[in-house]
Amino acid sequence: MSNEQLRLGFEGFELKAEANVPDGAPRPWDLDSKLRVVGTDVPRLDGEDKVTGRARYSYDQRFPGMVYAGILGSPHARARVKALDTKAAEQLAGVLHLEPLGDELYYAGQPVVGVAAVSEEVLDDALAAIRVDYEVLPHVVDTDAAMAPNAPQAVPRRGGDGNVVQGRRDTSGDGDAKVAAAHAAADVIVEREYRTQVQTHSCLETHGTVCRWEGDQLTCYASTQATFAFQNTLAQALKLRPQNVTVITEHMGGGFGSKFGADAWDVFCARAAKATGRPCRLMLTRKAEHLIAGNRPDSIQRCTFSASKDGKLLGAEVHSWGTGGVAPSASIANPAVYAFEAQLSDQHHVLTNAGAARAFRAPAHPQGFFALEGMIDEVAKELGMDPLELRRKNDPHPVRQRQYEIGAEAIGWGRRKADGAGEGPLKRGLGVAAARWKHNGRPGCSVRCRIGKDGSVFVASGAQDIGTGTRTLLALMVAEELGLEPSAVEVRIGHTTDPYGHGSGGSVTAPSIGPVARQAAYEVKGQLLRAVAERLGVEAGALALEGGQLTGTDTPLPFAKACALLPVDAIEATGVGTRELFSMPRFAPEVAGVQFAEVEVDVETGLVRVVKVVAVQDCGLVADPLLARSQINGAVIQGVSYALFEQRHLDPKTGAMLNPNLLDYKIVGALDVPEIVAIPFSVANGISTTGMSSLGEPPAVPTAGAIGNAVANAIGARVRSLPITPDKVLAALGEV
Ligand code: MOS
Repeated sequence: MSNEQLRLGFEGFELKAEANVPDGAPRPWDLDSKLRVVGTDVPRLDGEDKVTGRARYSYDQRFPGMVYAGILGSPHARARVKALDTKAAEQLAGVLHLEPLGDELYYAGQPVVGVAAVSEEVLDDALAAIRVDYEVLPHVVDTDAAMAPNAPQAVPRRGGDGNVVQGRRDTSGDGDAKVAAAHAAADVIVEREYRTQVQTHSCLETHGTVCRWEGDQLTCYASTQATFAFQNTLAQALKLRPQNVTVITEHMGGGFGSKFGADAWDVFCARAAKATGRPCRLMLTRKAEHLIAGNRPDSIQRCTFSASKDGKLLGAEVHSWGTGGVAPSASIANPAVYAFEAQLSDQHHVLTNAGAARAFRAPAHPQGFFALEGMIDEVAKELGMDPLELRRKNDPHPVRQRQYEIGAEAIGWGRRKADGAGEGPLKRGLGVAAARWKHNGRPGCSVRCRIGKDGSVFVASGAQDIGTGTRTLLALMVAEELGLEPSAVEVRIGHTTDPYGHGSGGSVTAPSIGPVARQAAYEVKGQLLRAVAERLGVEAGALALEGGQLTGTDTPLPFAKACALLPVDAIEATGVGTRELFSMPRFAPEVAGVQFAEVEVDVETGLVRVVKVVAVQDCGLVADPLLARSQINGAVIQGVSYALFEQRHLDPKTGAMLNPNLLDYKIVGALDVPEIVAIPFSVANGISTTGMSSLGEPPAVPTAGAIGNAVANAIGARVRSLPITPDKVLAALGEV
């Protein structure tokens, strides 16, 4: 260990901290680091492959003799299979394999039979030829209905009856008493109910895999955000050793938290490949994707917030209910972003007969922050205070304090009018909301880096790219350390035969593999410099790699010439993500962000148009501002979609989804996308030897809240329910 003095923070708010740097690790990047390619706009290395269609996704994998698998899903929300007649299907020419997959059915779409056939056409015919005699049982798909005393039990549960499962309740234990005392001391108390809808992940590439056996060795081209978890879950299900399963994910078309492992249909695909002796492909249909591949739970949030008349936030009390379908997973992020005197978060999961919720980009946060940020504005209104001023008064995060200034300037907060002000049917409004996320870089990954005698540089990680730009990031880390351009680095990702990388969940990927990639490059650079020094008879300590050259010699040597001095064909090092690499001082405990939205609402039609969103987002060190802006843009677009359009509609009578496609399930289109001003905000926050933190999820947190607040400002009435559709706008106006 050596002690290094680091200069952390950002311009105008700096602090010195001492870091314990492990032996053999480079000095952590901080405000004093002179970085060359890190911090510049580096285009995605695979961008051209993606836009030209050269990039091969799971969906694109084709092998000679490949068969097509699919599943027949339950048409009923709750049923039991009384009889299954598959004869007609099995007798169809080209049907090669068929398996029952389940007979006690708790949600529509739940797999009943799996089929593999020589073509997609034969597969469709086979699925249509299967006869199932269902005993249809009472179901409940609606959150409110499921909470009623005599509601059907949606799914059996251990340790109790009824569909309401108590979730997290406060953290302090005496939350009830403390929050009651805070309310009692308040000048202003606001009590409101907020609601959010179920949103499905709607990954552009549906879930699935292509499986190929060679002897007892299975290769899966999986659309997954967690190659190693996919390998492990599939191996477990098939009772194989993980080494017998190779997962390859070079590109994947969206996951957002719904693709963390091998699903039942993936396991079926592997079995079908084995049974038929042919490669097998199973990609879910769009309908199945909506029904069974995950969703963001809905929420009912009963909120009581209080404040003193000078604008000190006192109590925040939120009682929430939401459905994650058959999974009790409807958590809500509590209001920890502001410094309340007391908080109580009392959460409930409501079981219904619908596909299980899965983690969805910043789980628990967008729904929690829609209510939280609405409530903050409602308190501000009661106090007669500017909502931005109320936030600034109660927000303890030094980064957000600066971001409020930057964002307010960029959106022009000074022109914000009184709620509902303005002539004519088109009303403009401005709103603001905050974001938080954890610093989620963590130990455990490895990255391999190799330098060839021919001057080639190669880096490999078995982790996948969920879309954030993992390839580019790895190249960037290595290029910085070796004094090269990122394009000079060859990268392989997404093969489980390469060193372990975490699943892309919690926005961990860049912060976890970044420092390890840097470590690998640092170590292999050490080997190179020592080898060259020996050949040249100089001190290794005098040599350096910069600007594509080896310096410190009489005349600088081009990188490739230096490599040619290696006594072996190639040298390599595997960087290991030890705990020590991630045990640095922290400038601030969380990642901070703020967003400002401007909307235009037509008060005659109720139509909301988002005009502009300014998103200022901290992610620690901004390694590649271009990639960072791309992440922020994506999060804002998904947030606009959540705020205004998306909603899973289940028919309470039949339990069927009424919009299981991408026509009736409304997703933001190009014309609905506002002007987005994405402002990555770089903070030297320690954390690790690169200081990069999480980015994929945090900017997805505040968008709906900011839009909700902007709508309220525009029309002078509040829609407390997502999505903010014209009918709700008109209803809210009727209440004024
Ligand atoms: Mo994320 S929802 O943890 O992929």
